[in-house]
Amino acid sequence: MNFDYERNTRKFYQNDATAQRYHQMFVSSKGWRNLPSRVVARKERRAIETLLAQVPHRTALDMPAGTGKLAGIFATLGTQVVASDISASMLKVAEAEYAGIGYDRVSFRVADASDLGDFGNKAFDVAVCLRLMHRVPTSLRRTMLGELAHVASHAIVSFGIENGFHAMRRSVRASVFGGSNDSLCFCSMAEARAELEPMFEIARHVWIAPALSQEVIFLLKPKPQPAGDAA
Ligand SMILES: C[S@@+](CC[C@H](N)C(=O)[O-])C[C@H]1O[C@@H](n2cnc3c(N)ncnc32)[C@H](O)[C@@H]1O
Repeated sequence: MNFDYERNTRKFYQNDATAQRYHQMFVSSKGWRNLPSRVVARKERRAIETLLAQVPHRTALDMPAGTGKLAGIFATLGTQVVASDISASMLKVAEAEYAGIGYDRVSFRVADASDLGDFGNKAFDVAVCLRLMHRVPTSLRRTMLGELAHVASHAIVSFGIENGFHAMRRSVRASVFGGSNDSLCFCSMAEARAELEPMFEIARHVWIAPALSQEVIFLLKPKPQPAGDAA
C-alpha cells in the first residue's frame, strides 16, 4: 500500500462501519485474531492511567478520542473531558461508550488535530493523543504537536517506532496471516525525540508491548515558545 494521509488517516475512519469494526477489534472477546489488539488496548489503558497519575489534572482533551477507549479511565479519575476527533462516526461510538458507563463529565467535539485554535491557549491541564501520530507524515505531525503544546499544560502522545525487529515482525505476520506490511508513518526513536524536543521536555516514555506493538507513549511538558511562534 502506498500510504496516503488523506485517504488512510483523515478520511479512513469517517464512516459508521469502520468505526464499529475498529471498536470491535479491542472490545469483542470473540476471535483469536483480535487477541493482540485486545492485549495492546489493555496495556495502553494501563500506561495512560499511570502517566495521568503523574500529571495533576482536572481537565483533559482526548484527541483523537476514537471510539472512547479511555472513557473508563477518565471516569475513575473524575476528569472533565473533551472527547474530540475528526470522525463523527468514531465519536458516536465514543458517546455510547461514555453513556454505557454512566459518565457525563464529557463533551464531544468534531475537530481536526492540526487546528485546535478554537480551544484556546492552555485550555486543558492535559491532552492525550493516542494512536494518531504513526498515521501522520512528519511535517503535519509537527503542526499537530504544536497545537497540542498550545492547548494543554501537559501532553501524553504516542508514536509508532520503527526498528529492525518490528520491520521483520510485520513482514512475517503479513506472509503468514496476509494483510498489510505497511510502515505507515513510523519513525526511529531518535527521530521522534528530534520532533518532540523543540516543543516539549520529555518527562518519560513507556513502550506499550514491545514484542507486539511499535507504540511508545511519551509524557511531555510543553516548553515556553517565543512570542509569535506557532510551532
Ligand atoms: C487509530 S484511531 C485512534 C483512536 C483512539 N485514540 C484510540 O486509541 O482508540 C485514529 C483516530 O484518529 C482520528 N483522526 C484522523 N485524522 C485526524 C485529524 N486530523 N484530527 C483529529 N482526528 C483525526 C481518526 O478519525 C481516528 O478516530
